[in-house]
Amino acid sequence: MTELYLHSFALHTPKTVLSNDDLTRVVDTSDEWIRTRTGISFRHKAEAGENASDLGTQAALKALERANVSAADLTHVIVATGTPDNLSPSVACIVAANVGAGHVMAFDISAACTGFIYGLSVCRAFLQADPSARILFVCTETLTRRVNWEDRTTCVLFGDGAGAMVISAEEEGALARLEDVVCLSDGHARDLIIVGGGTSCAYKKGDPVDECFFIRMNGRETYKYAVRNMTSICKDLLARNNYEIGDVALLVAHQANIRIVEAVGERLGISTDHVFTNLANYGNTSSASIPIALSEALDKGCLARGDLVLTTAFGSGLTWGGALIRF
Ligand code: ACO
Repeated sequence: MTELYLHSFALHTPKTVLSNDDLTRVVDTSDEWIRTRTGISFRHKAEAGENASDLGTQAALKALERANVSAADLTHVIVATGTPDNLSPSVACIVAANVGAGHVMAFDISAACTGFIYGLSVCRAFLQADPSARILFVCTETLTRRVNWEDRTTCVLFGDGAGAMVISAEEEGALARLEDVVCLSDGHARDLIIVGGGTSCAYKKGDPVDECFFIRMNGRETYKYAVRNMTSICKDLLARNNYEIGDVALLVAHQANIRIVEAVGERLGISTDHVFTNLANYGNTSSASIPIALSEALDKGCLARGDLVLTTAFGSGLTWGGALIRF
């Protein structure tokens, strides 16, 4: 079977940073409530005119440079995003043009916060079909554009950012190898998290923007669903690869809420020093959260050659998944 190798990780976030105190001037909340309920202290916010494609392009350029790969040598540009600049063209087409790729296959994946895991699975399938493929995979989000700044239950949770990777079947020079990946969904639970603004929003020019444009979430139910499904998919992944939790050097779960990450870690029986978190500084950046975390973990020297990383995510759909990556 053709293997999937990751040759670089890079991240990019917008310059503007909002602290919890900044948000107390927008909604009735407090730094104490946000930190204790979510673990978040800061989040980055894209400026007007700064779109998912712009964040993704910056991360992509860094990833190409780190992998020492020319954009001209890419065969595919794949973008995971739930917050595309427009319904079409895809963010992938814009990123491909911005980085200087040729007439490559370019498309977006819509799997919300599970976009990174779904993307790995898609990249693996492309590599199996064509082992010479050289893929730029980008996860980029501007969720602050879709939060309702009058809804304190959701607007404090999200941040903007992008992570990017260069992927191929070539082992030489690689940072990591994908050992296994699983992706699942349950559309019956689709109402738990909706990011609005699609064509189901009846809208004609001049209408006031209403609730249907924004993120709507049943936080309590999402929390339970997330903990249950991320834990079970991690257990299944470990079991089918004959691993114990003790084999995992680092758990890098979707950075949605510190209590969710800790609950999954506890249920898996992994000690907290083997759980990576950086959501205090980023908030929930949806599909970008795991690549941002992996990029930061590498840059901070938290990963050594040979380390096994267990990643898991959940999101709107509902979607969820997990992957084992050997560094
Ligand atoms: N500041 C102050 N008070 C608040 C805030 C806030 N920002 N938000 C809610 N509250 C209040 C509520 O109004 C409620 O008050 P009440 O008891 O007077 O009615 C109280 O705090 C408790 O509210 P809960 O919703 O029960 O709070 P909970 O402890 O469940 O935490 C949270 C809410 C953080 C959203 C949690 O449920 C959670 O993390 N859920 C998972 C969400 C998630 O991770 N989503 C990611 C997926 S998103 C995607 O895929 C795009």
